Amino acid sequence: MSDARPTLGIIGYGNMGRALALGVSGNERLNREFALAVYEKNPAAAAAAAASGIFCAQTAQDLAGDADFVLIAVKPRHVGDLLREIEPKLQKDQLLLSIAAGVSLDFLREHSKGRCPAARIMPNTPALVGRGIFGLCFGPGVPEKKQEAVRGLLKELGLLIEVDEGRMSAMTALSGSGPGYVFHFLESLAEAGVSVGLDRADAAAIALELLRGSAEMAAQSGLHPAILREQVASPAGTTIAGINLLDRGGARGLLVDAVRAAYDRSLEMEKNA
Ligand SMILES: NC(=O)c1ccc[n+]([C@@H]2O[C@H](COP(=O)([O-])OP(=O)(O)OC[C@H]3O[C@@H](n4cnc5c(N)ncnc54)[C@H](OP(=O)(O)O)[C@@H]3O)[C@@H](O)[C@H]2O)c1
Repeated sequence: MSDARPTLGIIGYGNMGRALALGVSGNERLNREFALAVYEKNPAAAAAAAASGIFCAQTAQDLAGDADFVLIAVKPRHVGDLLREIEPKLQKDQLLLSIAAGVSLDFLREHSKGRCPAARIMPNTPALVGRGIFGLCFGPGVPEKKQEAVRGLLKELGLLIEVDEGRMSAMTALSGSGPGYVFHFLESLAEAGVSVGLDRADAAAIALELLRGSAEMAAQSGLHPAILREQVASPAGTTIAGINLLDRGGARGLLVDAVRAAYDRSLEMEKNA
């Protein structure tokens, strides 16, 4: 791994680790700025990383010893054991990054014996296509240069929102878990299309373009969604009939409750860590 570029070492090549690694490896600028390495204990997942041309370290300790940025992308319940394993290799000029939901900076510091500064990132899987959303908060003692490098990395992969640690659970609930809600909505819209007689493939394509086109229109117009909604709901028309039914069914309240449930779960995980 000898290279003039700083190394971003990702431990865990699952859903999120893979999205980040492929987001980085597929981005020309990030390729120039970072060397990428992965350690994954599952042989099939490690083979998938290697097949994508990503350097795979032999052990978590090897990766932690060599990387400038050590990014933990394993399930929250595995973070403690992993930190105990790699902690002897960590040095103060490195930066520990964790994307684990509900794993606090205090937990990271305690289990890594404070050997290097740490930061938390709450990403989401569209990072894979450079359209992720990242909550970021730095722990104490992260040098400005390292902070800038992390900001530069994440901005290249999507939208960066810096928050204090108290807001990380909110980021987890809204944007971290968000693709799950959107995919659920997407699937449901396609089912609705089939229900009113559209061919399944057409319904899926329409639902996808509906979300993409509406999001793009909202972004380009800069208008509040309520205004955009009013513009398409003409008096006594079809759209207002559908919207009225969504309101009667409590669709908005349900969505708020879903995000709150994810938020409560994240807080609970943090408390029980
Ligand atoms: N998925 C998301 O959308 C998302 C969004 C935001 C944040 N996150 C966070 O990202 C983290 C990873 O989530 P995920 O969904 O990617 O989980 P995942 O798909 O289960 O991936 C974790 C991977 O790490 C491997 N692993 C476990 N212990 C390891 C170790 N000690 N060393 C190396 N590899 C190890 C696992 O192997 P095995 O399967 O063999 O255990 C698995 O392949 C979590 O902390 C989660 O909170 C995820």
